[in-house]
Amino acid sequence: MQKIAIIYDSRTGTTAKAAKYISEGIKEICEAKIFSLSDVDMDYVKTCDGIILGSPTYFASLTANMKAWMEAEAPQLGLAGKLGGAFATEQYIHGGAESAIQILLTHEMVLGMMVYSGGGSHGTPVIHIGPVGLSQNIEDFWDLFVVYGKRFAMQVLSIAEKSN
Ligand SMILES: Cc1cc2nc3c(=O)[nH]c(=O)nc-3n(C[C@H](O)[C@H](O)[C@H](O)COP(=O)(O)O)c2cc1C
Repeated sequence: MQKIAIIYDSRTGTTAKAAKYISEGIKEICEAKIFSLSDVDMDYVKTCDGIILGSPTYFASLTANMKAWMEAEAPQLGLAGKLGGAFATEQYIHGGAESAIQILLTHEMVLGMMVYSGGGSHGTPVIHIGPVGLSQNIEDFWDLFVVYGKRFAMQVLSIAEKSN
């Protein structure tokens, strides 16, 4: 069975909830495990087919902790060729979560990963570059994150089937 790791930063729990919602969608199709930045099982992540990174939006960007982890830890994970995705939470609509996602996806590309958005072409809910949820009512974004998890897992599966 294909394996997907979700690695997130979270200070007040919102992004952790979004990570859990994504894992619920993935688990309908693949194995999923969730790790906070301070507790990443590097050996497990090395065996994964896909990695999804999540960050709160800080100053319309990713957090300094996530940036530092991407620079120091992620290069040790052998991520080249794996599928990558990204999500973010924010306090305000237009608070900059898309910028945070774009930076995460760019870091993934620099490490040689293939990146996946969740796919506008799948129709509703349209996910342009990755899912975003608002901190004041993150529970209302449950279905968006679940659908994203499902789509990401389907893409991992499709790549695995084509390479067999
Ligand atoms: C230092 C700091 C900077 C923030 N900057 C932004 C921002 O630029 N835009 C925004 O919408 N929310 C901003 N927020 C709010 C968080 O992105 C939002 O509450 C997020 O969902 C928190 O995630 P967490 O509960 O996983 O820590 C900021 C919060 C902090 C603490």
